[in-house]
Order: sequence, then C-alpha cells, then structure tokens
Amino acid sequence: MDTQLLQPTNENIMRCAAKLNGGGLVAFPTETVYALGAVATDSAAVKRLYDVKKRPSDNPLIVAVSKKSAIDGVAKNIPQKARVLIEKFMPGALTLLLDKADCIPDVVTAGSSTVAVRIPNNPIALKLIDLVRKPVVVPSANTSSKPSPTLASHVADDLKGKIDYILDGGESEIGIESTIVDTRTEPPTVHRVGGVTLDKLKAAIGDVVVKRDGKKSIKYVPQADILFSAFYDNMSENICRKYDELAARGRKTVVLCLNGNKKKYGDRAVFTVGKDYSEYAHNLFARLRKADAERYDAVIAEGVEPKGIGESLVNRLIKISGGQII
Ligand code: TXA
Ligand code: MG
Repeated sequence: MDTQLLQPTNENIMRCAAKLNGGGLVAFPTETVYALGAVATDSAAVKRLYDVKKRPSDNPLIVAVSKKSAIDGVAKNIPQKARVLIEKFMPGALTLLLDKADCIPDVVTAGSSTVAVRIPNNPIALKLIDLVRKPVVVPSANTSSKPSPTLASHVADDLKGKIDYILDGGESEIGIESTIVDTRTEPPTVHRVGGVTLDKLKAAIGDVVVKRDGKKSIKYVPQADILFSAFYDNMSENICRKYDELAARGRKTVVLCLNGNKKKYGDRAVFTVGKDYSEYAHNLFARLRKADAERYDAVIAEGVEPKGIGESLVNRLIKISGGQII
C-alpha cells in the first residue's frame, strides 16, 4: 500500500474522511500524540488497525467523537462526575471510561462492556471526525512497543506502507497521552496519568485513586535500555556514576536532561529535553526515537518532581523504563 503524507487542507481532510468511511486507516494529529483512526463501528477496519499496529487484541481502543452531545451516542449511564469532567476538560487530554453503548463493537473494547471516550483538542482532528459523522478509534499511531508519535514523520517511520494517509499537523502540543479516568468508582480511579494533571482532576471532582498497573507494564522495546532517576537535589551525581559504570561496560549511553542541567554532565552524551517539565513531556518520545536512531544502548532520564505535568511524566517514565529506577 502506498501511504500518502497530506497537508491538512480542507480538501485533504475531506479525502481522509471519505477514506475512513470506506474502511481505510488514516493517521492524524491530536494535541496529545498522533492517532491512528478507523471508523469505530466498522469491525473489519478496526481489526485491520490492530494488525498494522501489531497490537494485542486484548488491549482496547479509545473512541473519539467531535462534540459533547455525541458522547451519549457511544456511552450510557454517564455518572455526574463524568458530566463535570466533560464540561471542564473536553475537548482535551482526558479519556473517560464509561458503560458502552450497543453500537460500539466488541473488537473496539476487547470484549469489555466499558468504552473509553475522548474529544481531542485539535482543529484538524475535530474537523476530520466531524466530517466522518461517526465515532473514530484513536489509538496512538505507533507500532506497539514503540514510543507514541509526536510528529507525522514518526508515524511514517512505523507505519509507512501499511495505512492510507497521514495528515501532517506538525508537532503534537502536549507530547504525552491523555489521562484516563473511571468515574464509575467512588472515589474515581485514574488508569493513566497524562495530559490533564492530577491536581486539575482533583480540583474538579475531589479525591481520586491512581491505579497501579495490575499486569506488569510492557516495557517499551527499543535497542536502548531505559533507566530513570528518582528526583532529588543532586541526582546528577548518581546519574553520572551510573553513566560511567555503563560506559565502562562498553554501553553507548545518553542522558536526557533539562537544558539548565546540561553542564552537570560534563562531556558525557546528553539530549536536552527543554527548559521545563512541559517541554520535557513535549519532547520525551521524540528523544527516545532519536536514541534508537542513533543506536544508543542505554538512556538515563532525569527524574522530575511529581507535581503538575511532572506527575504525568513520572508515570510515563515508570512505564517506558519497565520500572528501572536508579
Ligand atoms: O492521548 C491519547 O489518548 C492518544 C491519542 C492518539 O488519542 N491515544 C492513546 O491510545 O494513547 P492508546 O491505544 O495508545 O492507549 C489507550 C489506552 C490503553 O492503555 C488501553 O488499554 C486503554 O487506553 N483503554 C482503551 N479502552 C479501554 C477500555 N474500554 N477499558 C479500559 N482501558 C481502555
Ligand atoms: Mg499507545
């Protein structure tokens, strides 16, 4: 299959909508990371999407709609706290777990009666879904076990030749995935800490519990081993020690650090991730792809203070490192 990279003109967005309605697969930008779309009610297209992503069939997909009123079409029994979150954070980097409506096929939810729903806050995504006039599944547009894509070129690296179109909307604003919340439990359960921070969630609906991964989280599998540091004042000393230890064993190693910390690592290899935690989140996945492309054996990521988006970053670092904290 020839995968075309398209600029997000009105005409091209219309082409993509028609392709989706014909059972095709189209990648497009969202404010968190790029999505790989298929019409959610088209089981055959959704099955093909699992194949091209090499995604295990027991891992359900998020469903996106373009307006709040459409949520009632894909979910039922919407709790009051979910209504509050919908009003406050949608469109945005929040996904709600809700009772599934009958129109959502089992292949989307991996047989569960729960559907994950979100409204992406990106004008290209919203326009596309609007034109499709049906709910669209929005998993990240990477091959399973690769970092989520934050650029159209990342999508092409993983999926070129396997999908119909990639709409190029530039860099994803936030850079890490949506926060996933189940308001059907009391207190509500956070299944993934992401773009909407825990502080903001708590301010809107009160206390929440954060779910620890039941199954051992699948480590992201690049050539490089990912380690990350706990956050404390002189963590750079510990990172340098670990770096030197790995280097002595012949492991090509790189540190991911904030711009302001670069000099603490002397002449060791570093990739800077930006000036603050928002930029760290924005750049994390792109730097991991760069480490792979440049064939590093190990990446040591600086730890962050678990505040605001920092808390989401810690959650992500635990996941991608498979819990290898130094
Ligand atoms: O920001 C995002 O959410 C991005 C953008 C592209 O929309 N999408 C995304 O999708 O991160 P994905 O497939 O990479 O991650 C979706 C997560 C998975 O961990 C999946 O298990 C969970 O959402 N999920 C989806 N449907 C679910 C359901 N019915 N019940 C429980 N968890 C669900
Ligand atoms: Mg993903």
